[in-house]
Amino acid sequence: MDTTTGTEQTRPLALVTGGSRGIGAAIVEDLSRTHRVISWSSADVDLSDPASIARAVERLQDGEAGEAGLNRLDVLVHSAGLAGESTVGETGWETWQKMFAVNVFGVAELTRLLLPALRAASGTVVAINSGSGFRSGAAQGPYSGTKFALRAVTDALREEERGQVRVSSVHPGRVDTDMQVALQEGRGNIDYDGTRYVAPASVAAAVRLAVDTTDEAIIEEVSVRPVRG
Ligand SMILES: NC(=O)c1ccc[n+]([C@@H]2O[C@H](COP(=O)([O-])OP(=O)(O)OC[C@H]3O[C@@H](n4cnc5c(N)ncnc54)[C@H](OP(=O)(O)O)[C@@H]3O)[C@@H](O)[C@H]2O)c1
Repeated sequence: MDTTTGTEQTRPLALVTGGSRGIGAAIVEDLSRTHRVISWSSADVDLSDPASIARAVERLQDGEAGEAGLNRLDVLVHSAGLAGESTVGETGWETWQKMFAVNVFGVAELTRLLLPALRAASGTVVAINSGSGFRSGAAQGPYSGTKFALRAVTDALREEERGQVRVSSVHPGRVDTDMQVALQEGRGNIDYDGTRYVAPASVAAAVRLAVDTTDEAIIEEVSVRPVRG
């Protein structure tokens, strides 16, 4: 879904995955102040399926990104993601596969297809990683595994594209979204209090910092954590 029309077509172009809810929706709202934003949900692209990713990028090239197609892309934000807690002992193959497909392989494949347009714009890629991209623990193997892997991918990409495309990794702690509600429910916490957690808009502010950084600098990594731990 393109959130802008008419005269705004001359603005820099941003694509946000996971833009329908939670952190991604806050990023769409914030970037829309300055950018023409295309927001994708799972209805627009299934990031676990390379054919679906290819079709979605073709749609962009065929005009969804504007009359000029997709010659330039200024900002790509990877916010779509899956989470869940389960021990290695109880996690089956399909769970591992689905979580790695969405959180890692889909990010890599979409980035690969969009790199020519990102290079043409000297653009910025922002990956919404997690504190779980630095630390793991009991029942964190699948999710942390994907976020450690995502950090490896973005660290590599940053060096490969240095001087052409800026690559930023944003690491939120717990954020007040549907994902956090489900995680707390899974832990048996029935008195969910979203005010204990980071607001999605605060993560969007970190993305804004990465996007607005002047040409000679990169925000390589930033952590956004709840005040109350
Ligand atoms: N919430 C937290 O506490 C927290 C903390 C640290 C990091 N993060 C990370 O922040 C990112 C956003 O999390 P969130 O809390 O905003 O999640 P969320 O509220 O659960 O929203 C998830 C988003 O991902 C999309 N999505 C899910 N599966 C997809 C698929 N197969 N293909 C394409 N899109 C798909 C969803 O689209 P639909 O609306 O169509 O389902 C939705 O827009 C994730 O990468 C997450 O790991 C979250």
